[in-house]
Amino acid sequence: MCGIVGIVGSQPVSERLVDALKRLEYRGYDSAGVATIKDGELHRRRAEGKLVNLEGKLREEPLAGTIGIAHTRWATHGAPTERNAHPHFTDGVAVVHNGIIENFAELKAELASAGAEFQTETDTEVVAQLLASFRREGMGRREAMHAMLKRVSGAYALAVLFEDDPSTIMAARNGPPLAIGHGEGEMFLGSDAIALAPFTNEITYLVDGDWAVIGRASVHIFDIDGNLVTRPRQISMAAAYMIDKGNHRHFMEKEIHEQPEVISHALGHYVNFIENRVLPVSGVIDFAKVPSLAISACGTAYLAGLIGKYWFERYARLPVEIDVASEFRYREIPLSPQSAALFISQSGETADTLASLRYCKEHGLKIGAVVNTRESTIARESDAVFPILAGPEIGVASTKAFTCQLAVLASLAIAAGRARGTLGEEEEQAMVKSLAEMPRLMSRVLNSIQPKIEFLSRELAKCRDVLYLGRGTSFPLAMEGALKLKEISYIHAEGYAAGELKHGPIALIDENMPVIVIAPHDRFFDKTVSNMQEVAARGGRIILITDEKGAAATTLDTMHTIVLPNVDEIVAPMIFSLPVQLLAYHTAVFMGTDVDQPRNLAKSVTVE
Ligand code: M6R
Repeated sequence: MCGIVGIVGSQPVSERLVDALKRLEYRGYDSAGVATIKDGELHRRRAEGKLVNLEGKLREEPLAGTIGIAHTRWATHGAPTERNAHPHFTDGVAVVHNGIIENFAELKAELASAGAEFQTETDTEVVAQLLASFRREGMGRREAMHAMLKRVSGAYALAVLFEDDPSTIMAARNGPPLAIGHGEGEMFLGSDAIALAPFTNEITYLVDGDWAVIGRASVHIFDIDGNLVTRPRQISMAAAYMIDKGNHRHFMEKEIHEQPEVISHALGHYVNFIENRVLPVSGVIDFAKVPSLAISACGTAYLAGLIGKYWFERYARLPVEIDVASEFRYREIPLSPQSAALFISQSGETADTLASLRYCKEHGLKIGAVVNTRESTIARESDAVFPILAGPEIGVASTKAFTCQLAVLASLAIAAGRARGTLGEEEEQAMVKSLAEMPRLMSRVLNSIQPKIEFLSRELAKCRDVLYLGRGTSFPLAMEGALKLKEISYIHAEGYAAGELKHGPIALIDENMPVIVIAPHDRFFDKTVSNMQEVAARGGRIILITDEKGAAATTLDTMHTIVLPNVDEIVAPMIFSLPVQLLAYHTAVFMGTDVDQPRNLAKSVTVE
C-alpha cells in the first residue's frame, strides 16, 4: 500500500527520499513521486510504474532542495498514471497521502462549485484543494491544516509542504501508520521505521487523530482539537535488520530459507526447551478462565488463525469464533466480555484487522496481538502482545511470518491446554519436543525437496487452474497453498476440504487439472486417500505431499509424490508449508512474474 517519506534536512534530500521509498517498495505500489522546495518554489518529478522510472526522470532533471516529501502510490481512486501520482500540487500546497478520503466526492463537488479545477481522478487531491482554499481565505498554515483535518473523513496518513515555508513538513494520521524520525539537525517522516532506518532509530509514532508540525530541530504534535500532545520517543529495532536478499534471487526465496532459524528464535520466546514445557502465558489473558476465544485476521494470517482454531479447540477444549476481519468487523457477533480475542497480523497495520480489534475492545474483551511488527498499531492497541519474531518480511507473499505465526499459536494452544487442565504433562512435553525438533526438520526438508519441486513447478507453470485438498489442519494449509500460488503466479487455484470435493469441485476434475493433496500420515490419512481415489478415477493429475509413512501406505498410482519426514501432528502444518511455498515460488519464477511485488498486491493493507 502507499508509502510516505519526508525529510526536513540540512543537505539535499531528493536522493535520500528515493532511497527511503525503495525501503517501502515491499508494500506494493504502481507509481511514485517526489517534491521539494527550492528557492521558494515547489518542484516535483513523478513517474508511472517502478521507482527505476522515477530515478530516470530525476537523472534527466535533478531536483534540488533540502526539504521534501515523496510517495509510492498503490492506486485506489484513479488509474496508476503519472497524472494521478502523488505529490499533488495546488496553489503552493503539495500533498502525499496513504489511505482513502471517504467524503472526497462531496468535498470535490463543493470545491468545484466554488471554482476549484481538479487535475486528477484521485480522492487525495481534495486535501490539497481544501488547504489551498483555506489559505486563499487568509488562514495561516497551521490553521488551514487543522481546518482541513476537520473536514476530511476516512483513513489517511498525510504529509504536506507549503511553498511559503521551506523549513516545515506537516503530517497527520488517522488509520495508516506514520512515524517521525528524530535526527541531528534533521527530521524525518515515514510510513514505517524500516524506511527511516538508515537515518535514525529514534522514532515517535503518531496516533490516530494526531497531526504534527515538523521542523529541522523540533516537532510539535497536536490532537484533532488542536491541543498540544506528547507522544513517546522510542528506539526502533528496524535498523538492526539487514534488508537485503543475500545470495537469493528474491526476498521470498530468502524468507523461505530463513524459516528454520526464525522459527527457532520464535519458539525460544514461548518454550522452555530444557524442561520441554511451554512458558505459561502471564498477564491479562487468562486462558484458564476465558469461556471462548475470538480470532480474526486477513489473508495468510487468517489461515494461520484457522489452524490455530483446530489447536485451541482440540488441545485446550476452548471454543474459537473465527472469521476474516473484513466480515468479522461487520457481522455483529455476540461476544462475551469474559472472552479474549486474538488478532494475527504480520504488519500489525491491516485496516480490517485493526477495526475488528477495536470492535472487540468496545465489547470488553481482552485483546491479544500475534504480530511481527512490535511497534505496530495493532500491537500498541492490544492488552497482550505475542511477537512472532520472524524479522522483516519483505516479499509480498507471506512465508516465514505464516510459519512463525503457527509456531506461536501452537505454543499458545499448548499453554492454554496446560492452564485449562486439558493437556497432561507428558502430552505437553511430547508436543514441545516435536516443536523443538522442527527447525532441524525444516532444514532437512529445504535441502532435500528442491529438485523435485522445481520439476513439478515447471509442470504447474503450464496450467490454468490448480486444486489443493486437505483435511484437518491440512485444509487451511490447502487454502494457503492456493493463495500463495495465485498471488505470485496468477494461476487460478482453490483450496478445499478434501471431504467437500464430491459436493461440487469434483466437476472440475479432468486430465488437465492438477490436484495437490496435502496428506500427512495422520488420523485423516485413509479418508484423504479415498478422496484421492475419486480424483484418480476421473483422470485427475495428483501431486501428493505426504510423509514417509504416508508414501509407504499409499498404493495409489499418483502422478507424483513429495515425501517429507514423519512428523507429529502439531508440527505438520509448519513442515508441510515448505513444499507448498516452494511450489508457488518456483512456478512463479518459471513464469517470470514479479515474485516479490506481484501485480495489484500490497504488503501492508491499510485501507478497507
Ligand atoms: O500484515 P497482515 O498479516 O495483517 O496481512 C494480511 C494479508 O494481507 C496477508 O497475509 C496477505 O494475504 C499475504 N499477501 C499473503 O501472502
